[in-house]
Amino acid sequence: MKYFELMKEKVKELQQKKDVVILGVESSCDETAIAIVKNGREVLANSVATQIEIHKRFGGVVPEVASRNHVNAINNVLDDALNSANLTLNDIDAIAVTYGAGLMGALLVGVNFAKSLAFATQKPLIAVNHIWGHIAANYIEHTSLKPPFICLVVSGGHSAILNCQSYTEFTKIGSTLDDAVGECFDKVARVLGLGYPGGPKIDKLAKEGAPSIKFLESDALKNSFDISYSGLKTAVINYLHKKEQLGEEINIADICASFEQEAFTPLINKVIRATKESGLNKIVVAGGVSANSYLREHLQKECNKNNIELYFPNLNLCTDNAAMVGSQAYYNLINNVGLSDLNLTAQPSLKL
Ligand code: KG4
Ligand code: ZN
Repeated sequence: MKYFELMKEKVKELQQKKDVVILGVESSCDETAIAIVKNGREVLANSVATQIEIHKRFGGVVPEVASRNHVNAINNVLDDALNSANLTLNDIDAIAVTYGAGLMGALLVGVNFAKSLAFATQKPLIAVNHIWGHIAANYIEHTSLKPPFICLVVSGGHSAILNCQSYTEFTKIGSTLDDAVGECFDKVARVLGLGYPGGPKIDKLAKEGAPSIKFLESDALKNSFDISYSGLKTAVINYLHKKEQLGEEINIADICASFEQEAFTPLINKVIRATKESGLNKIVVAGGVSANSYLREHLQKECNKNNIELYFPNLNLCTDNAAMVGSQAYYNLINNVGLSDLNLTAQPSLKL
């Protein structure tokens, strides 16, 4: 029997199996990560080789450099994951991989690695959407959390409000019309000379400042669930240029505090309104920016006022990792989603 036909049979068996152990691979940006996850919830290994230090000197991720470093790291990351779980490839039931969205060359390293591993070991190959993975990071932290819920996706590449009806069905309520929120944080940090990645640096400095500056007059999308960040980014840049031309001093901490407040206030208002209108009472936050302390604190306050349950991933699972891939892959497998043949390829612009 051909590989794919055989795998369809294996998936049927796995759907009846008590414990399913999945090895997840993640290489969409600058982290080479492999994790081993049992039944979507229990992390047996979570290995990451980060490239942050390498990309720091360029002020951002250089795609070609990222791909080369994934190639160099991935075999060791696999060994590390198996060793730390004290398992061999024989103990693994299926191989999962992020196939998009992300950087083309970077994704291809993980996809080809996972395909080779799946074929060589004759195990099912499960394709995972990176953003679905970020959402699943919450299932690891909150073991009884189940859809339906409203999800606020805040990452380096995406900003959206989703209605998650099930583990594999999502409807978009609103999204950014231009930049993603993390991208905006990184760009503002760059013009402030804070370096890469900018989000955590703005988060830290904002705590020492006051939100005394108003960059934009009002939210032009107030009545919509969509969001825009390019106007705010330009307004911060214009503010800095003006100060420079006038020879006036700037207070970086105040700029960070003001920017953070202005970036998150519309998002918080919109996700609360979307949740109330949907009749649901749960919000799940996903993506790298979910690590932000202002967002955590202020969204929690609004949820308390409105009797809404709020879930964030554990801080170490907010940014890219493979545990989230292994978790989502379990729900894909159970729901007959993402089983792939060996033609699977990277999709850099994969939609939610
Ligand atoms: O989700 P992620 O790993 O990337 C994508 O999948 O796109 O998120 C990375 C983003 C970066 O833009 C980074 O600056 C931002 O998350 N980030 C933060 C914080 N920690 C990471 N932004 C604001 N505050 C933070 N504490
Ligand atoms: Zn990500």
